[in-house]
Amino acid sequence: MCVWELGRESMDPAWLAATVFLLLWQCVESTRAVKEWTYTGVVGQSEWSEVFPECGGSGQSPIDVDTSRTRYDPSLSPVQPLGYGQYGREPFTLSNNGHTVEMPLRSWMGVAGLPWQFSAIQLHLHWGNGVGVATGSEHTIDGRSASAELHVVHYNSELYANMSEAKTQANGLAVLGVLIEAGGETNQAYTNIFNYLGRIRHAGQKVAIPGFDVQTLLPRDLNRYFRYNGSLTTPPCYQSVLWTVFAERVRISHSQLLKLETVLYSTKPGVSQPTLLQDNYRATQPLNHRTVLSSFIPVSVKIYTDGEISAIVIGSLCGCIGLATITWFAVKTIRSTSSWDVLPSVRLPPQTRTKDVAKDLKQDMALRTTSDPGKKEEAVTPPEP
Ligand SMILES: *[C@@H]1O[C@H](CO)[C@@H](O)[C@H](O)[C@H]1NC(C)=O
Ligand SMILES: *[C@@H]1O[C@H](CO)[C@@H](O)[C@H](O)[C@H]1NC(C)=O
Repeated sequence: MCVWELGRESMDPAWLAATVFLLLWQCVESTRAVKEWTYTGVVGQSEWSEVFPECGGSGQSPIDVDTSRTRYDPSLSPVQPLGYGQYGREPFTLSNNGHTVEMPLRSWMGVAGLPWQFSAIQLHLHWGNGVGVATGSEHTIDGRSASAELHVVHYNSELYANMSEAKTQANGLAVLGVLIEAGGETNQAYTNIFNYLGRIRHAGQKVAIPGFDVQTLLPRDLNRYFRYNGSLTTPPCYQSVLWTVFAERVRISHSQLLKLETVLYSTKPGVSQPTLLQDNYRATQPLNHRTVLSSFIPVSVKIYTDGEISAIVIGSLCGCIGLATITWFAVKTIRSTSSWDVLPSVRLPPQTRTKDVAKDLKQDMALRTTSDPGKKEEAVTPPEP
């Protein structure tokens, strides 16, 4: 909001015009400088493009990787982290920027195996909200989310002088995306970061942490990945990112995930109502005309969702019931000496008929399900495509 008052005594038109212009300019500048955004709420994901036009572009990230539509490209070489293990003598700095936990990387760290040489800038994470469901990753594979996602951000040091120059340019950035799954043992590599989250609970806080081999955060298999052209997943959403999303997932323990999801706040220290820093992942964006390449031939294992499974089960039950009904009519017809035209007169209300059937064909297991009207109703819902 911009509020100003003008003194009555100085109403010289030129002065007034100049003052109004200056105030308006300051006003515009200050809103431009603030440009606050969040994942939900007033400047939530769906509103980003109003303030940051590129967020409404046609080549945005993250995406759902549909493995039945990726194109195998045998020329894609393994990703080679460079100098990730040489962390030097200085500590790393971990910070809570209100949107994520971020760690700048050494200038000599980089990545080879891409069309250009890229130098490392920083890494950060995206995660969910600590409630059961496996959401939190930005990229999804065949519609499935992981619990969290690590991004290692690099800039094209062959074409551009620095990050600020590269970030807006085509092929300016390269991000390595690692899907993180909860379950299993404590992941020692991630402990190097998670151990210090308690020291940066509030936005704006920083902590120095001992250096460690950054490559240990990546999956073992760096040969199998998906590659596509996309964007930054946070405003200003520049469409300058050559994405590498590894096929192999990294595992952390449930308690590590819970820590990541529940320790940090998106608000500054001393705020009366602190807000947890949760669900800092962007929804998947339309692929539009883009192609997703894969460095390997994905084995497309179709995973049925719970809904699809129940649809299949109910569908099968329906089939059985149908079959049983036909059998019942057949048996009844054979047993009865009377002809078909008698049947309408002996037609009973559905409940009684069901009991009748059960009496007639006690052995038929499938018939028992007819006494569950709820399931019968659901059965009309067709399976999701
Ligand atoms: C980035 O490089 C450009 C061009 O060389 C230069 O003008 C600019 O000051 C640099 N920015 C930073 C932050 O170093
Ligand atoms: C990304 O875009 C560039 C053009 O800027 C193109 O040459 C390249 O093949 C694209 N890469 C992928 C993986 O689609």
